Amino acid sequence: MSIVEACESRTNTTPEFPMGWFSVARSHELGVGEVTRVTAFDREMALYRTQSGRPVLQDAFCPHLGAHLGVEGRVVDESLQCPFHGWRFDPDGKCVEIPYCQEIPERARIRIWHCEEKHGQIWIWFHPENTLPQWALPDVPEFDDENWTEPRFAEFDVPAHVQDIAENSCDPVHFQYVHKQAEVPPSEVTIEDNGRILHLNSDAKDAEIPHKLHATVFSPGHALVHTSYGPGAEMIVYNSAQPVDRHNTKMRWSLIVRKEIADMAGDQVMQGIIDGLGDDYPIWANKVHKHKPLFCREDKTLVLFRKWVRQFYLTSADQRETA
Ligand code: FES
Ligand SMILES: [Fe+2]
Repeated sequence: MSIVEACESRTNTTPEFPMGWFSVARSHELGVGEVTRVTAFDREMALYRTQSGRPVLQDAFCPHLGAHLGVEGRVVDESLQCPFHGWRFDPDGKCVEIPYCQEIPERARIRIWHCEEKHGQIWIWFHPENTLPQWALPDVPEFDDENWTEPRFAEFDVPAHVQDIAENSCDPVHFQYVHKQAEVPPSEVTIEDNGRILHLNSDAKDAEIPHKLHATVFSPGHALVHTSYGPGAEMIVYNSAQPVDRHNTKMRWSLIVRKEIADMAGDQVMQGIIDGLGDDYPIWANKVHKHKPLFCREDKTLVLFRKWVRQFYLTSADQRETA
């Protein structure tokens, strides 16, 4: 039988960006009065911290003549000043001063993206229509618990769409072929009643160091992986993503462990994560996104993932409603 479908180009089926919480910086990277540029969701943004300490994330380009406010913009009290002609914008995006003109045009505004600071990171609530958050950032009490270590960080630029990276966690077979793991413990994927949170549980009781793993996936690219080797021997890898464009994603990991095992689980765990990504890298860098993959009967968790992930995108019906 011949294949009659059109040959896929590298990019034509790559999805848009899912809605959800995504990190855009670590808190310590943005001091009071500092400004930085953020490239995310195929857009340019400016991120600054006001003199009172509040992070503000906005579109980058000045409505006046288009200068990038994230490059040499200046924080003045609770506002950001454009480096080109000095117009100032407040945290609501409203122009509050034009230094050489008394009258501020009505339309002198810049788009603000909802952002919050939690667990040592600055997060954007991303929705293609820039809505308010539809769910809250999760609490991770272990970050403030004195029985747990301070976080260690790792970052990695991945040449893939955020959805394809997230999909790997529901792909048990690739652990064998890509990561060369001989025994992949069976994992169970379940979806919470509200339909939004996906859980992955596996019990590696036959591993060299037996352990249980529980991953909570809040949205594509935002997950918490809790591994337990026994009472008091636990670690958490908190994973956040910054989709840069449709083919590139910056991943950020924060690792915390119970102090009891602080000496055993640290840098080498982070190195393990980075090495694991190195295995995935050539696949990610060269694959296309299959909009309609050809699944076989045993690809159950992948099928479940694809059903789950749909809710994070606007359907064409949603877009018509709001058009
Ligand atoms: S371009 Fe920003 S003030 Fe002119
Ligand atoms: Fe992988």
